[in-house]
Amino acid sequence: MSGFFITFEGSEGGGKTTQVSLLAAALRGRGHDVVETREPGGTPVGQTLRQLLLRPHTGPPTDRLVSPAELLLMLADRAQHIHEVILPGLHAGRIVLCDRYADSTTAYQGYGRGVDLAEIARLNAFVCGACRPQLTFVLDLPVAVGMQRAHERRGAAAVDHFEAASVAFHERVREGFLAIARAEPARVCLIDAAQPVEAVHAAVLAGVRKRGPALL
Ligand code: TMP
Repeated sequence: MSGFFITFEGSEGGGKTTQVSLLAAALRGRGHDVVETREPGGTPVGQTLRQLLLRPHTGPPTDRLVSPAELLLMLADRAQHIHEVILPGLHAGRIVLCDRYADSTTAYQGYGRGVDLAEIARLNAFVCGACRPQLTFVLDLPVAVGMQRAHERRGAAAVDHFEAASVAFHERVREGFLAIARAEPARVCLIDAAQPVEAVHAAVLAGVRKRGPALL
């Protein structure tokens, strides 16, 4: 695999999407071929799965995805995405920037929903195989700040299934991302996302220079 795989992770409202675009522009400015993608929803099949996963749950309890079903649909999205987008990009020598990947499953379905972490690690390993990011940015910010930002960004659009979850759920998710950053400091670069966009971007560039020195 000759490309370079970078993921952006963290709770809602951390500005991942903006930071993916800013890093993509910086890398393209250096002549790199960059793929910007996201999960769930980075493929046509994934778009359908995303709608199912994020739709607000306003109906009866039988309308809800149970946690193992939610987990398996996230993994189905990932399998399709790796096959159609990520691996072809890496094999073609591109830099792949992905807005959420396997760490989101650990944080949301594991820490958030309470699915067994060892089981999630096993399933992620099955789906991802050797397709693991060389560098991951976790954009961290207090839950209240993230929820407020997500609320402002959404405007009049309906609140999605995950945004509607409790503060306690989002606190567990944040703790999950922080635990991942502590456990894998060589791969994961933790950034304070409560800073202004430019300061976060500068921290991202510094992280890329440190861990992917040939890129910038
Ligand atoms: P976002 O990409 O717009 O942030 O929305 C995706 C939502 O899906 C977000 O709330 C996190 C959630 N998610 C999981 O719960 N598990 C996963 O594995 C992934 C990729 C996303």
